[in-house]
Amino acid sequence: DEVHAEQPEDLVIGEHGYKYRLVEGRVMPPYITPARYALSRSIATRPTDICFVSYPKSGSTWLSYILVLLTGGGDTATAPTGATTLRNSLHWVESSWTYPRTAAELEAAPAPRIFKSHMPYDMALGGDPARQPCRYIYVARNPKDVCASYYHFESCKSWSGYYQGGWDHWLAMFAAGKVQRGDWFDHALGWWARSRDNAAAGGAENILFVTYEDLLADTRAQLSRIAAFLGVAADDARLAEVERASGFREMQTTEFSALRDVKEFNRFFRKGCVGSWKESFTVAQSEAFDRLYRERTAGSGLELRFE
Ligand code: A3P
Repeated sequence: DEVHAEQPEDLVIGEHGYKYRLVEGRVMPPYITPARYALSRSIATRPTDICFVSYPKSGSTWLSYILVLLTGGGDTATAPTGATTLRNSLHWVESSWTYPRTAAELEAAPAPRIFKSHMPYDMALGGDPARQPCRYIYVARNPKDVCASYYHFESCKSWSGYYQGGWDHWLAMFAAGKVQRGDWFDHALGWWARSRDNAAAGGAENILFVTYEDLLADTRAQLSRIAAFLGVAADDARLAEVERASGFREMQTTEFSALRDVKEFNRFFRKGCVGSWKESFTVAQSEAFDRLYRERTAGSGLELRFE
């Protein structure tokens, strides 16, 4: 079935049982089949399309629901909730898992088409984002929280990578860019460098850069910023309702977590806070990662973003 539309001959079983597939030289999940990747690259986007992009574990499920609510009129009584209905409102083209859509179905999907992607900039949906008429929203999160969240996720989800090693080794793999979706720095910096928020680089007008931390610290202001970017009219009452419906406890305790159709879906709602990396990193690991962060982000404008 589509869920396991893997091509076993392409799969690599890495250290500690970690399964992946190399696509364009990057470590990718087994469910990124060559056919799905090719389809995602071939999409001719439209001005009404929205493509949200992130490295895994950066708040993409949260942002996806925010986008569905904002574009659906903010009426949470009629907006889709739960994994199944939310999934039906989104297109995750690169993945053979759970969202399979043919080219014809994508062509016929109603506007606004909301695309999800976890790809680095040079593997983006539609080809070169600078030449696409759609809008991209990139959500980034402190890589230490990403790394810790990802460790819990990949250790549990037996249906995909299923990493069976320990934390120290996972952290080393993450820092070396050897986990699924590749190097965090390449990913975040690639999108950051071209986003309109990076004024120094004269970024493209169609890429908005959002952080998980800003979204959590000042949800209303960030929702308003996203709505303005999308050209969606949203008054205070509407933003307040979207904020309430997409809150962590709300999403964790409603149908999103109760559904059984997507195995282990509740793993998408673990802690939902800033700084839980402290429970995983030792002081020495944290210091070493901070040094790496400073080295890799030097001169980018993203140096101080997650300190
Ligand atoms: P933690 O594991 O740190 O709790 P993604 O959806 O991209 O896989 O990201 C998952 C992370 O986002 C998890 O982080 C999850 O708890 C957090 N998250 C999910 N929904 C959220 C929400 N409504 N508000 C804040 N964080 C949320």
